[in-house]
Amino acid sequence: MRILLIGNGAREHIIAEKLAQDSEVYVIMSKKNPAIAAIAKEHWICNIENPQEVSEIVKNQIIGKIKIDIGFASPDGVLAAGVSDVLENAGIPIASPKKAAARIEWDKSFMRLLLEKHKIAGQIKHKIVNNEADARAAIIALDGSVAIKPLGLTGGKGVKVSGDHFTHIDEGMIYVHELLDKDGVLLIEEKVEGEEFSLQAFSDGHNVVAMPPVQDHKRAFSYDRGNNTGGMGSYSTGPLLPFLEKSDIDQATRILQAVVSAMHRDGVPFKGILYGQFMATKNGIRVIEFNARFADPESINVLALLDGSLSAIFKQIAEGSLKKCNFLVDSTVVKYLVPEGYPDNPKPNEEVKVNLELLKKLDAKIYYASVYEKNGKLLTTGSRAFAILGQGTTIDMAEAIAEKGCKCVSGPLRHRADIGTNDLIQKRVDHMKKLRER
Ligand SMILES: Nc1ncnc2c1ncn2[C@@H]1O[C@H](COP(=O)(O)OP(=O)(O)O)[C@@H](O)[C@H]1O
Ligand SMILES: [Mg+2]
Repeated sequence: MRILLIGNGAREHIIAEKLAQDSEVYVIMSKKNPAIAAIAKEHWICNIENPQEVSEIVKNQIIGKIKIDIGFASPDGVLAAGVSDVLENAGIPIASPKKAAARIEWDKSFMRLLLEKHKIAGQIKHKIVNNEADARAAIIALDGSVAIKPLGLTGGKGVKVSGDHFTHIDEGMIYVHELLDKDGVLLIEEKVEGEEFSLQAFSDGHNVVAMPPVQDHKRAFSYDRGNNTGGMGSYSTGPLLPFLEKSDIDQATRILQAVVSAMHRDGVPFKGILYGQFMATKNGIRVIEFNARFADPESINVLALLDGSLSAIFKQIAEGSLKKCNFLVDSTVVKYLVPEGYPDNPKPNEEVKVNLELLKKLDAKIYYASVYEKNGKLLTTGSRAFAILGQGTTIDMAEAIAEKGCKCVSGPLRHRADIGTNDLIQKRVDHMKKLRER
């Protein structure tokens, strides 16, 4: 098959790698990712969040020249801009959601209203507010224990949670003001206590096939200190995470299925990757949010384990004939190498060198996120640079491989050494145990 992929991060690097196992991959990128360009049969550069620019490339350089079998728009901003719609309008069958369906991610009020309307499990107390008085009343009604959220996309950096980002209601109200000034509306949610996990699923508009659960680490520094980032790394341990029970995964999977069924009933069928961000609490699973795409980095954990053809799955999604998929039961650890100072003061344009031979010897894999080539050199930007993947029959093996793999890249980069270690995982297990005993 010939597959057209839109995107240029580490997530798209592993997607391209998997697709290229049995298909020709064509890619439209905002910036040239050298590793993806090396996989692609052909690539084009434009602002991929601008549907008009993507449309011009598709019309002028692809249609009539290359027969594309499937189109897949990958990043959140691209889906929110309606790029899947552009591909479909050009006659390309798509395996990613259209703008109306991706709304489950780009409009958090749409998501909460959908759960409400269809009485889907996992809902939490929340209020959509458009003025100061209502916001204050909502925060007081929840005893000040809240998450304050913009409705739209913020690259994972827009949510402020009491206890973590602010303590007094007046501090929270400063953020409320900021959001009202910017958007005129925001979401106040009850703060949920528990352990967070990601469950990604393929969906063809009717059927849902879940992938293994993964836990991400958003904070910049070891032991969850520092600001939120795009994600510093993640681990998986087969069909379950150490702090979860099978019933938790079953519940989360049922929620994903219920969402897909509800969207079908509402006339906005969801085709693509539905990624639930869930919180395991003492009272069961709660929905933090849904995303309309693969997670980054958690896509790397699950796609490494996918035992079968991603191209075939994309075809089934496009055709509405999704079948079961198999995943290896190995453990995986992903660690992101980020520029020193990331996320607050990253130092861009620094030279980095990758020792591919040593990575291969270690059995570690590298995925290129945000780096570029200039005069034969590899340089960083201000964003996450590389993801390093370790895979093994135990989490210890996977962690050791990922950790050693991080040392194969030289330059002013850092990573979180604690991700995937027994020490940190045990803390999650103890936390969950304490909550369930309460
Ligand atoms: N209701 C909540 N209770 C506790 N923590 C929350 C809540 N909502 C969000 N968070 C925390 O904030 C993070 C970001 O929130 P999320 O809704 O996923 O927005 P986004 O990813 O768009 O920034 C979550 O991963 C979670 O750690
Ligand atoms: Mg999120």
